Amino acid sequence: GGNALDRALDLITEIPDFPEPGVLFRDLTPLFGDPSGFAQVIDALGEAVGDGVERLAAVEARGFVLAAALGYARGLGVALVRKPGKLPNVAGRVDYDLEYGTATLELPIGSVRPGERVAVVDDVLATGGTVAATTELLRTAGAEVTGVAVVLELTGLAGRARLGAVPVHALRSV
Ligand code: PRP
Ligand code: HPA
Repeated sequence: GGNALDRALDLITEIPDFPEPGVLFRDLTPLFGDPSGFAQVIDALGEAVGDGVERLAAVEARGFVLAAALGYARGLGVALVRKPGKLPNVAGRVDYDLEYGTATLELPIGSVRPGERVAVVDDVLATGGTVAATTELLRTAGAEVTGVAVVLELTGLAGRARLGAVPVHALRSV
């Protein structure tokens, strides 16, 4: 690609057979480590999230990095959806399937207000299990999920189809 966002996304590398044979892992580490590339991605995620959003939600761990930067840039708080066993005050818990294995996510009590308009931010949309679980947690807590913004969508895993009517914005789809 020719523009600065394309150059930033070109920093993402492909690692065959991680974390298990047959999986082509997209590694965003070089992008997170590049100051101008990271800034490009945060700005583009802000465009993807749009206006009228009252809070961001993100999943541990890489989602936290993106949502923290975007929340600061936009003056929005972040609901921190966590891997299990971390929280003393669990509002909701969802079990779901990953591309490789299974997982559980938990939402802290008091993360969102009833009726609050919340956008979900993450690095990769793969099977969509993580975002679907996050959306379920947020809705159960009373939030309105306005959309999903991700850096990279892996279209072969059809995560978007799993998310129903929620708008999904990916900076790049592969
Ligand atoms: C990765 C990624 C997404 C999720 C995408 O997180 O950051 O959150 O998987 O997969 P899905 O669409 O199939 O659910 P991971 O659980 O590897 O956690 P990490 O951020 O702690 O590395
Ligand atoms: N890269 C990073 N995170 C992921 C991937 C990937 O290829 N698949 C599922 N989560």
